[in-house]
Parts: sequence; C-alpha cells; structure tokens
Amino acid sequence: MKIVVIQGPNLNMLGIREKNIYGPMKLEDIHAQMKGFADQNNIEIEFFQSNLEGEIVDRIQECIGDADGIIINPAAYTHTSIAIRDAISAVALPVLEVHLSNIYQREEFRHKSLITPVCAGQILGMGPFGYHLAMVGMAQILNEIGAMKQAQKAQRQTQAQVTK
Ligand code: DQA
Repeated sequence: MKIVVIQGPNLNMLGIREKNIYGPMKLEDIHAQMKGFADQNNIEIEFFQSNLEGEIVDRIQECIGDADGIIINPAAYTHTSIAIRDAISAVALPVLEVHLSNIYQREEFRHKSLITPVCAGQILGMGPFGYHLAMVGMAQILNEIGAMKQAQKAQRQTQAQVTK
C-alpha cells in the first residue's frame, strides 16, 4: 500500500508563516509523524511539496500505477485550480483533502474548494493532527478497496468453477 502526500504553496513555510492560524509545527515535523504512522502500519509513503501549480499537476499524474491513494493540501490552489481538480479526476485514485485551518471560518474567498467534489473526503480545522486523521482514513479506504477486490476475485473464481 503506497500513499503520496502532496503539499501546495507556502506550506514549506509552516512554523514561520501566520503561526496564529497554522501553528508552530514545521512541515518536516508533520511529515515525520506521518512517516512514523506509515512505518507502524506497513504503508509506503512519499512526500512532495511545491509552490507551482503545474508541478503539483505533474506529481498527481505520476501517481497512476505508482500510488494507491493521495493525501493533498492544495493550499491556496484549493480555491482556484481547475487544473489540480482535473488531475485528481484523471488519476481515479482515492484522494483526501486536508486543511490545517477551518476554511469556512475564514475569508469568504476560502469558503469554496474546487477540489472537494473530486475527493473521497475532506479534513479541516484540526491543525497538523488532520494529517494523522487523513492517514488513518486513507488506510481504512485502501483496506476496504483491497477487501472488495479480494471478494470480487473469489466470486469470479467460484463462477468459473460453476461454468466448468
Ligand atoms: C490552507 C487553507 C488555504 O486557504 C490557504 O491558502 C493555505 C492553507 C490550510 O491548510 O488551512 O495556504 O490550505
């Protein structure tokens, strides 16, 4: 099971940037916690941060055939990027959207996410803990998909035996 974590613009500034909103934790510390959970649960994990929309689109596309699920905080692109939304739709993988802050309690321009309709779920307002919740959620989603595929395979085998 492999999860790719994609972080959008200015999230490399966590720990420096608007600490009253985003808290004091640095991105590498959030990632270290996620890696700890991944290691304990036999999950392969990869991290990517970019301030550039096109690079984020490229990284999402690269997940085809490589990753089983994506956890993404598109940051400011959440509210503007049709390109990131289309890339998420294109890869047809389970995606969880994370925001450190509760975007609905903030300025009106942050109330709209173009990404949510193409995501399996959204976690927001929980600070860095939201990433841990996303890991737990994604592990659950991927386990369910795995169990479903196993059941379908078993059903196909039974059907093949019946028609022999
Ligand atoms: C954010 C919320 C966005 O509105 C903002 O542009 C960010 C961070 C969050 O994690 O709360 O950069 O995605």
